[in-house]
Amino acid sequence: MDKKDDLFSRRALRVPRSFIREILKVAGQPDVISFAGGLPHPGLFPLKELGAAMERILEERGPESFQYGPSEGFGPLREWVCQRYRRRMGLDITPENVLITTGSQQALDLVGKVLLNDGDFAAMERPGYLGAIQAFAFHSEAILQVPLAADGPDIKFLEAAFRQNRPRIFYAIPNFQNPSGLTYSLEKRKRVAELCRRYKVFLVEDDPYGELRFAGSDLPPVASFMEDGCMMLGTFSKTVAPGLRVGWILAGETVLERLLVAKQAADLHTSTLSQHLVWQYLTMYDLDEHIAAIRKVYGRQRDGMIQAIRRTFPPEVMVTEPDGGMFLWVTLPEGCSTLELFERAIKEKVAFVPGAPFYVDGGGVNTMRLNFSNADIPDIDEGIKRLGHCLDRYLSTLA
Ligand SMILES: Cc1ncc(COP(=O)(O)O)c(C=O)c1O
Repeated sequence: MDKKDDLFSRRALRVPRSFIREILKVAGQPDVISFAGGLPHPGLFPLKELGAAMERILEERGPESFQYGPSEGFGPLREWVCQRYRRRMGLDITPENVLITTGSQQALDLVGKVLLNDGDFAAMERPGYLGAIQAFAFHSEAILQVPLAADGPDIKFLEAAFRQNRPRIFYAIPNFQNPSGLTYSLEKRKRVAELCRRYKVFLVEDDPYGELRFAGSDLPPVASFMEDGCMMLGTFSKTVAPGLRVGWILAGETVLERLLVAKQAADLHTSTLSQHLVWQYLTMYDLDEHIAAIRKVYGRQRDGMIQAIRRTFPPEVMVTEPDGGMFLWVTLPEGCSTLELFERAIKEKVAFVPGAPFYVDGGGVNTMRLNFSNADIPDIDEGIKRLGHCLDRYLSTLA
């Protein structure tokens, strides 16, 4: 086969394969208890309801659901997304502010294409979402990470980074961040908005997990403290089902126009069938009721995982306790390597994601991400017990 590097663009050569996708191959073996993926619980996919919605669209829309559609997205779905933002957040927007995307992952690629020149800095959280690191790296190698504290980004660091490096964008996940599970406080939201405004850094606010809150109360998006110079990304992946691949971008019309052209070049439009199916489902059923059920289950799973961790992990291991989302973030003492722990854990048939790939500068070697949404409580108990044993043995080799 072709091994010549000159076959490939510089862009293609500099972006590594997704480490998580590689890990998921190992973690996906049937006897492994996996806390590795960012997978929703499959038992919560509304299969019966989606089946009924599918029947209805075949009856009522027929071939139209299998036809090419507008690049902006299916009109009634754009309208639905717009109404939801108006109702939940009181945002003054119209359906023309909504571009339907093939999952929010596509939105990240379009953002990179439209907002980043090669060499431009893209700022994001540290640790940061791997899918964004990968998407942005195709367009610019200059990724700048801003340390995340328990209540949001380190503001001093953020300001210094904005002043010195003048990044084009700041990519933020203020609710139950992937990978850390951390949430920005109200104060930090206002400060981030203020700095983006002052330094003219375009805010890309990604919120796939905000609706999955099991404790505390919702906070306004960072973008709500800005007039312009921002966009919000959303998705049905965590509230309905990720296989549908339906997400959206909410932005001002000038930015959306550019994104639309990039989308046309990428895939013409998001699957008509998926969009019709999601819309029909949303029209026939109450999404809020469904989300309430998801919150209840994930809340129990989070509690179960935290209790199991308290029972079995050595006390020097720290863990975040998020009020929502799908992830816990674990920090081992300095000098530990979760890559080494991973080798041991996989032999004991339990998997997680080592933290290092979420850091572009090679940090985070002693951290890991645990997903609590995908496994049932008995598996969570058993998997955490196995991991606790691995940790005990691993830490004793370092003592
Ligand atoms: C922060 C964040 N953004 C975007 C995505 C991609 O989601 P989608 O399925 O909508 O492409 C994920 C998926 O896990 C995510 O965690």
